[in-house]
Amino acid sequence: MVSFICCLLPALLATTSAQASTLTCKTCFDSADACRTAQRTCRVDKATGGCFAVAEDITLEGTKTTGFASHCIDDYNMGVKDPVTVTLGNGTYLRINTTWCNTDNNCNSAVPEVPTGSTTLNGLQCPTCLSLSADTCDSHIAPCTGDETYCIDFAGTIQKGSEISTFAAKGCATASTKVIKVGISLASALSVFTFTKATSKPAEKTPTSGATPALGRFSFALYLPGLTGLLLVKLLS
Ligand SMILES: *[C@@H]1O[C@H](CO)[C@@H](O)[C@H](O)[C@H]1NC(C)=O
Ligand SMILES: *[C@@H]1O[C@H](CO)[C@@H](O)[C@H](O)[C@H]1NC(C)=O
Repeated sequence: MVSFICCLLPALLATTSAQASTLTCKTCFDSADACRTAQRTCRVDKATGGCFAVAEDITLEGTKTTGFASHCIDDYNMGVKDPVTVTLGNGTYLRINTTWCNTDNNCNSAVPEVPTGSTTLNGLQCPTCLSLSADTCDSHIAPCTGDETYCIDFAGTIQKGSEISTFAAKGCATASTKVIKVGISLASALSVFTFTKATSKPAEKTPTSGATPALGRFSFALYLPGLTGLLLVKLLS
């Protein structure tokens, strides 16, 4: 486990340096227990780097995987510093809690809690889907819960060990996903996500009565060919 994680995060991990202004961070991988009792440390340049700790729950169609990691981080300005949760379907979600610090030696020794999520509907909705083999997916509208008030539309690659796969994901997410941009990497304990598409915008309200908004949208769709026709006529005349 340790060796595969070591190969997994090369871009983010700091190299040991003997410079004066260094910070030490706790390092651990895998389980909460391993992280609670961690004795090993890494060193990072205090001017540019810092320490991080992460606890996550990645559940795919009801199959839960929890992961924990703590380490040095080379570039303190790059990355998502707040907890992120994303729901991509019924029983399919990512919940990542991270702590970033660059204040004191071993400031990352506390193990974050795995976010528990919420099942309370918040009156918002998003197109929702997940593909782990293509960079697009067919979405359906699903209700959002808790503090997942944004809709994300992400695509990119997931690296897990030496395996790299393409993914597409749409769903409800926390506002903290706003900082995720094309080109950045999101390091979780078990995987590194790299984004080729990353939009995150406030979710729409769930229509209170299904009929009116659906009809509104339908009639607009009906109008569209008519409008296009008018436009063409105008252009041609
Ligand atoms: C979600 O899945 C659970 C168990 O698999 C099922 O009981 C529930 O009806 C599903 N909910 C929706 C909205 O599909
Ligand atoms: C993240 O972990 C911290 C420290 O254990 C905890 O106080 C906080 O509630 C956690 N955040 C989430 C979203 O679970």
